[in-house]
Amino acid sequence: MSHPVIASPAFFIGKGNDDLISFGSGQPDLAPPPSAYKVLEHFKSFKYGLVQGEEPLREELAKEYPYAEAEDFVITNGASEAIDLALRAIAKDAPGSKVLLPRPYYYSYPHNVAFAWMIPVYTELEEGKLNFEHFKRDVEGCRAVLINSPSNPTGTVQEVDTLKKIEEYCEERGIYIISDEVYKDLIYVRENYLLHGKRVITINSFSKTYAMCGLRVGYLYSKDRDIIETAVEMKSHTSMNTSLVGQAMALAAMSERDSYVESHAKIWRERRDLMYKGMKALGLDLWEPEGAFYVLPKFKNPARAMHDLYYNHKIITYNGEWFGAPDRLRFSYALDVKKIEEGLRRVKDFLGKEYASY
Ligand SMILES: Cc1ncc(COP(=O)(O)O)c(C=O)c1O
Repeated sequence: MSHPVIASPAFFIGKGNDDLISFGSGQPDLAPPPSAYKVLEHFKSFKYGLVQGEEPLREELAKEYPYAEAEDFVITNGASEAIDLALRAIAKDAPGSKVLLPRPYYYSYPHNVAFAWMIPVYTELEEGKLNFEHFKRDVEGCRAVLINSPSNPTGTVQEVDTLKKIEEYCEERGIYIISDEVYKDLIYVRENYLLHGKRVITINSFSKTYAMCGLRVGYLYSKDRDIIETAVEMKSHTSMNTSLVGQAMALAAMSERDSYVESHAKIWRERRDLMYKGMKALGLDLWEPEGAFYVLPKFKNPARAMHDLYYNHKIITYNGEWFGAPDRLRFSYALDVKKIEEGLRRVKDFLGKEYASY
């Protein structure tokens, strides 16, 4: 019997059993902060909530950003909805505009741009890094740029100097920066640099930092009042308020923020080291992740490798082509150490068998 072709990440999302090693979806396997669960014992709000998001949560988020106020936030169904709203709000007065995406990119971005009736254009990353000279050339004529640092799928963190130059360059030209910072707390190399400015729209979520991706709570933050008002207006006609229980759990989780993030940093670093060194030892060509939880090694015929790894070795990986990296496979290492070790053993087996004849 021939196997179904795997055409997009949708094939894998939500899949998992004991025998399967999923290096696919980027969902942390760790438990969320315990305070989040306690909310459920007394939770009683089952009516509609504010479309913009519950005030206590927005107030708490505002404390994380200098000069921010609760009214600068919209609480969304994960970062995914925040990206969609940000792009559609930008497109409102300028449908058909160009949006610059550094490539490789998070696989949803080109779709999100197209759904907002805009056109994705690309600037090539070099070993996962932005080249400012190329950026200036490629951003010409764009209405917005989408930056994701630390990045999915490259695992790289952009240089502070480059980010500051981009910030200044875009501000002078009125180009919007959508800064997707969902991995801002998962960084191994240095303190993060968070982009800011009049036309910056910050995207974040509770999915990665607090390991709550199924709860679907994220947000967008901007000092641009038009963007906030447009996003709230659009959301009032689409998803309305974000889940109230999700928001209450997110707020509770924030009370443990520092201790939770700090205690997990060691776990992520250990996994990063295991994955990177393990793949190097297998002879794969990849760069060392500086943040997030992904590696992007080179593979011959990645589509075939992804199929063989899944159907013959019970390993989920994502085709690099979905991320604009057609010569690579993406592996997420949001898995416990034992599973990573077993996964690496299976990859070794695959390299010595099917892959040897590619
Ligand atoms: C770069 C990036 N942005 C956004 C998202 C979506 O996150 P959320 O679960 O908050 O919708 C992901 C999820 O993997 C991601 O990697």
